[in-house]
Amino acid sequence: MAIILVTGGAGFIGSHACLRLLETGNEIISLDSYVNSSKNVFKAINKICELKGINHELIKIYECDILDKKSVEDIFQNSINNNKEIQGVIHFAGLKSVKESEANPHKYWEVNFGGTLNLLKVMKNFNCRKLVFSSSATIYGETNKFPIAEDSQIKPINPYGKTKAAVEQLLLDIYNSEPNKWSITNLRYFNPVGSHHSGLIGEDPKGVPNNLFPIICKVANGEIEKLEIYGCDWPTIDGTGIRDYIHIEDLVEGHKKALELMFSEKKTSYRCINLGCGHGVSVLEMVKTFEKANNCRIKKVFEPRREGDVAKTYADISLAKKILGWKPKRSLYDVCKDGWKWAKTNPNGY
Ligand code: NAD
Ligand code: WQD
Repeated sequence: MAIILVTGGAGFIGSHACLRLLETGNEIISLDSYVNSSKNVFKAINKICELKGINHELIKIYECDILDKKSVEDIFQNSINNNKEIQGVIHFAGLKSVKESEANPHKYWEVNFGGTLNLLKVMKNFNCRKLVFSSSATIYGETNKFPIAEDSQIKPINPYGKTKAAVEQLLLDIYNSEPNKWSITNLRYFNPVGSHHSGLIGEDPKGVPNNLFPIICKVANGEIEKLEIYGCDWPTIDGTGIRDYIHIEDLVEGHKKALELMFSEKKTSYRCINLGCGHGVSVLEMVKTFEKANNCRIKKVFEPRREGDVAKTYADISLAKKILGWKPKRSLYDVCKDGWKWAKTNPNGY
């Protein structure tokens, strides 16, 4: 097993990844500024570890801003001093709101690109050259070729997606500068949703969420009066937007597989791999499944299309199946069941 630094380890995906890597015998170091998460997530992770008989001392947490290079260096140095040298990194730390990126592009470029640059410099200085990066399907922009494969055109249409595409370019240059030393995998997520099946950890964004699934959960628990469906005139099966929703536990399983491959193969590598379910689901289908899974009614109203939205997007996941030996195991029903289990028992998050 390995000693892995998880940047953004307290976040929605990072926290689920920390848990999954702990379950499979790894030691974890979490780096997070808690700008969009709560340190309390680790109490929940510890509780799950106790229930599963996992030594929760195998996770060390640091409050740190990835832009603070000295603090990032200290984390690497402390690990060496504790005889637990960091062997690989999963880099989740970043800002992810498309809407916010349009209002504050400088912040998004600073954190998502500048933060990654910082991390890479420190990794190189400490001779740590295995990296899994949280990329996004947003880099593909608009397309009419489905399913979307990794060799589709990269043309992001918002600052957030542009930062992700730029980081991938940076990572390719870093790899090409030392091709016999770096192993880098860009995992391009479509729409991660749901929560760990225990209901003890889940998505807990600060402020008002923009994403469909957490909003449906807030409508279900009465925090939001009704779901506003953005557009009923899209060129889709029922006129509402189609996306590729992937259960968070399937998503982090893909990360585990990507790391395992990196540590098992003799050669270095640079890869870009989609993680999604491989099929599209409309907003109305999501609502219907949620109502069925949780025996509830979601009040909804149709509104005009949201700026920047596309009609449809879903992944070609054949590369993930072939290279990682990975495929999603959980259904949309599981997403709705597990996601609601977290949301109804934790209406105020952590
Ligand atoms: P999240 O906001 O829940 O997690 C990101 C974590 O990074 C948070 O805990 C936040 O506090 C931390 N962070 C942000 N800026 C930081 C900084 N300067 N220094 C240290 N920590 C910082 O988001 P998430 O949904 O878990 O996404 C994780 C990664 O996956 C992000 O890079 C995101 O762009 C990417 N991604 C997310 C989705 C999605 O739909 N959730 C889809 C594709 C890609
Ligand atoms: C899904 C569908 C909306 C809210 C975003 C980011 C992307 C990635 C994943 C980071 C769309 C509809 C939504 C609502 C609605 N994140 N919707 N009413 O836009 O596909 O992707 O999250 O990488 O970068 O853009 O996800 O959940 O916002 O929307 O009708 O209140 O639900 O129109 O069809 P999206 P979403």
